[in-house]
Amino acid sequence: MTYLRLMKYPGSKTVMLPELIRIIEESRCKTVVDVFGGSGLISLNLERVAIVYNDLDPGLYNLFLQIHNQPVKLKRLIKQWVDNLYHPGGKSILQNRSRNEVVRREFIAPERQGNSLDIGKGLDPLSYAAETLLRFNTTFGGLGATYSTEREKSPARNIEKVLGTFDQIASKVRNWRIENLDFRELMTKHDSEDVLFYLDPPYPGKEWYNFNFRAHDFHVLKALIDQVRGHYLLNIDDKIPAMTRIFGNPTFTRRYPNRNGIQETRSMEERRKAYYLNFSYNIGSRHPEASE
Ligand SMILES: C[S@@+](CC[C@H](N)C(=O)[O-])C[C@H]1O[C@@H](n2cnc3c(N)ncnc32)[C@H](O)[C@@H]1O
Repeated sequence: MTYLRLMKYPGSKTVMLPELIRIIEESRCKTVVDVFGGSGLISLNLERVAIVYNDLDPGLYNLFLQIHNQPVKLKRLIKQWVDNLYHPGGKSILQNRSRNEVVRREFIAPERQGNSLDIGKGLDPLSYAAETLLRFNTTFGGLGATYSTEREKSPARNIEKVLGTFDQIASKVRNWRIENLDFRELMTKHDSEDVLFYLDPPYPGKEWYNFNFRAHDFHVLKALIDQVRGHYLLNIDDKIPAMTRIFGNPTFTRRYPNRNGIQETRSMEERRKAYYLNFSYNIGSRHPEASE
């Protein structure tokens, strides 16, 4: 099964996706609120539900908003930028290796590193969206210096893939409601019985995003899920004592082969994920790559 994917993103849930889709379908909820939406991977691959995509990061919010509002113009702009990179002065750079080098030089240039929130400040919304999309697809994590490494093998191919599926992505995003709120405000605003909150918060102790979580945020999240009227599905890494102290024992756990390229976790052979749900799910059925 091929899934829609807009960008590479640290902590996105590719390997868990089949089971996440199944759990969400079993909830029979009419609306899914993707509270920590990130790359939008979950929202992009759900069918027959209304989607509320949210992320506190203004760059991601702007990207999805521009895909929603001006998909044709955005795609044209991205193609234009990429063409200018590949054909400087009308000269074609045909080899894939050369294309990768050109893309790397462009997106790992010193002026593009540092705080990605600053990068957006001087740009109009459409250019900021194109910049965000290209940066995430060419430098791991999209945060410039932190993750832009030679390990990112085929940035040119990533961009081409996104352009190839852009129309499909845009036709899904067209139906979304897109928010840019802190999870506290968002969950209070959208709480109702036929809503499912998908909760994939930032990792404890990691600084992978422009907005990260402290212990206090996890406590607030726990207090919120204890009182919501809606359904929730929360994922966090398993066997982190501080998390178990806050959230208690998970409903169930899974182990996945580690395909994560991020330095800090690369050496681990598997990833253990905890699932917390407030509705019933037949945990017997699962993705073949996962084990209990
Ligand atoms: C683990 S990532 C989500 C990955 C996402 N599920 C995906 O598949 O791409 C966590 C996200 O939470 C966002 N975030 C951090 N603090 C937040 C807050 N207080 N409210 C809402 N979103 C927040 C970050 O910007 C980041 O994109």
